[in-house]
Amino acid sequence: MSRKPIVAGNWKLNKTIKEAIDLVTQLKRLISGTQNVEVVVCPPYTALGEVSEVLMESGIHTGAQDLFWEEKGAFTGEVSATLIKEAGARFVIVGHSERRQFFQETDETVNKKTRAALAGGLTPIVCVGETLSQREGGKTFAVVGAQVKGAFAGFSADQMGRLVVAYEPVWAIGTGKVATPAQAQEAHGFIRKEVGKMFGDEVSGSLRIQYGGSVKPENIAELMREPDIDGALVGGASLEAAGFADIVKNAGIAALK
Ligand code: PGA
Repeated sequence: MSRKPIVAGNWKLNKTIKEAIDLVTQLKRLISGTQNVEVVVCPPYTALGEVSEVLMESGIHTGAQDLFWEEKGAFTGEVSATLIKEAGARFVIVGHSERRQFFQETDETVNKKTRAALAGGLTPIVCVGETLSQREGGKTFAVVGAQVKGAFAGFSADQMGRLVVAYEPVWAIGTGKVATPAQAQEAHGFIRKEVGKMFGDEVSGSLRIQYGGSVKPENIAELMREPDIDGALVGGASLEAAGFADIVKNAGIAALK
């Protein structure tokens, strides 16, 4: 089954509005003409509107880094799917490990947020992944399996068909310690199999699963050559236009093979 690769940049808490505009203005020029990779940038909320404006009709999409599940009301500090969409975004990251670690997100909140994103017309990028101690304790599949089951509990096949999963081993995020292609493939294959058990082979066969954790221009191609790796969620290396453009280009070349 053919799956269009998707490379997304997660800027985290970085970039002023001006810096954000500069970055995407360069990016637009550097990757114009890249056809076979879907590209998404996820700036902070404050820059989402301006960045979306600059990228209008460029083929590069924008996404938010989080959302709240309620539509509106007395929820100080929160942002809904509708507001994110109004700012011009089509994607939203849900359940990033930093949200789980620092902001007490659980599989249950990830489930609610993912539902809200879909209901609001956004494509969620749902993150799962084990910590180093979990991996060393031989619990990788138990942990990732539980995250997948929890995130998508009660979903329909139609809902499942409208989202992206990102496998991000926590020990590889921001550490420079990338998973080997074999380690990543093993986890991606497992996730696809679990989704297949829950939703059937058609849904799991078309599900795009990104790898995330210290992705760089130098390691994207070997990761992309694995059968179940359909792109990348990129943190640090997405903060600089030339490097991120190289990741996109190298992902596109690897996908052609
Ligand atoms: P990194 O972050 O590329 O800086 O490791 C990845 C992520 O957190 O999505």
